[in-house]
Amino acid sequence: MVTRQWTARWRGWMLFGAVALACLVLIGPAQPAEAQGQGEEGVWITVGADAFRTLRGEESIRFRGQALVPVAQAEGVVLTQVDGEDLRAISETIHHAHRRCGGFMAHESLAEAQEQMARVARGMGAVEGAPTYLIDQPALVGSLSPQLSESHILGTIQSLSQDFNNRYYRHPSGVAGAEWIRDLWTGYASGTLGVTVELVSHSFAQPSVVLTIPGSTLADEVVVLGGHLDSIAGGSSDPDFVAPGADDNASGIAVISEVARVLLANGFKPQRTVKLMGYAAEEVGLRGSQDIAEAHATGGIDVVSVLQLDMTGFQGSTEDMSLIDDFTNGPLTTYLGQLITTYLTDLTFSTSSCGYACSDHGAWHFEGYPAAFVFEARFGQHNPEIHRTSDTLAPLGNSAAHALKFARLALAYVVETSVDGSELAPIFIDGFESGTTGDWTQTFTE
Ligand code: BES
Ligand code: ZN
Repeated sequence: MVTRQWTARWRGWMLFGAVALACLVLIGPAQPAEAQGQGEEGVWITVGADAFRTLRGEESIRFRGQALVPVAQAEGVVLTQVDGEDLRAISETIHHAHRRCGGFMAHESLAEAQEQMARVARGMGAVEGAPTYLIDQPALVGSLSPQLSESHILGTIQSLSQDFNNRYYRHPSGVAGAEWIRDLWTGYASGTLGVTVELVSHSFAQPSVVLTIPGSTLADEVVVLGGHLDSIAGGSSDPDFVAPGADDNASGIAVISEVARVLLANGFKPQRTVKLMGYAAEEVGLRGSQDIAEAHATGGIDVVSVLQLDMTGFQGSTEDMSLIDDFTNGPLTTYLGQLITTYLTDLTFSTSSCGYACSDHGAWHFEGYPAAFVFEARFGQHNPEIHRTSDTLAPLGNSAAHALKFARLALAYVVETSVDGSELAPIFIDGFESGTTGDWTQTFTE
């Protein structure tokens, strides 16, 4: 029933295809060669329903001579079986017809494909479950936001993209880059009570990094701000490539780091537990975030919101930011829009779609958690240099001015989702106190 034989035969092709198309074809977790079966039953893929319709209409794409058959469907994703020989044509067809990279996932077995469909179904719950978030901390946000520094953000992007210009998930410098982030965050946490910074290990070399600020009165509820710390260029066949990943995604990590610096320098004491995350191995299939999201789900951890920062440095659209509206939670996304109109009154935003689970928010979404993704531009108008050796500070104008906007939003997000207006106890060690102002209190639900 389950065939993995295509894996060894086609993985090499996929990597070649990735270079040729400047796209990544997603593959599941690596399977040891000895574990691979000998069947000839084709390859299980999950693909967006729109792309599935396109593929089914293609004369040249057939499974055993027949048009593709949908085996299962959930939240606009279809599970189907294809010939291994057709993977290149499938990738090219999706790329051409739908202008997207990574438009399908190839799975090593039916069981793995079904797991993905189950994640998608849980994601449906995440879309429908509508958390209620408030905006009621203008004093805190107002006192912290001006402390965010563009030069700190620029410095972090510079260090990561120049000193660790290959953060590939199984390259030694990809491990060193993660450790450097751990050390940076540990420095910010020094002298604070209860804040921890940890490496989270995976089945591959690169660890993720997690900073935890324990909550006070609502410690069991968790707010996540994250982005990926790995980089990639030119496909993954040559692990020694130069992959500065300045925009993708040193820019997201630099924003998260700056939010950490300002919060910790002010002795921020949230009610909910705040976790800041740098995920390993996003570029090879959301692997670090998938491990972490799965562990939270297995542990029954109540993650109330997740915000993803992946690419914040390049202003490619007339609007300053774009809220991604697929594989994300609608009410949380609406709430982020409200945070922008409340606190970032000088900025504008659009909404746009990736068309697939294009970053780590997808991993949380598939586990049923409410996740949102705020992006540097409308999808398609983003930095054209990503996944290349040329993803350096130069296309960002050697500036973190755009990224700073995301730091302002991310800081407002962390403060507003982790502190409630009803909490009147001081939440800062250093003499600051939270207050509530009736005029600022708004409720957003959908
Ligand atoms: N930063 C990109 C995601 C992205 C690129 C979002 C362009 C919006 C516009 C991310 O690091 C990435 O490359 N993702 C992969 C998919 C992932 C599941 C391997 C992609 O988009 O091909
Ligand atoms: Zn990225």
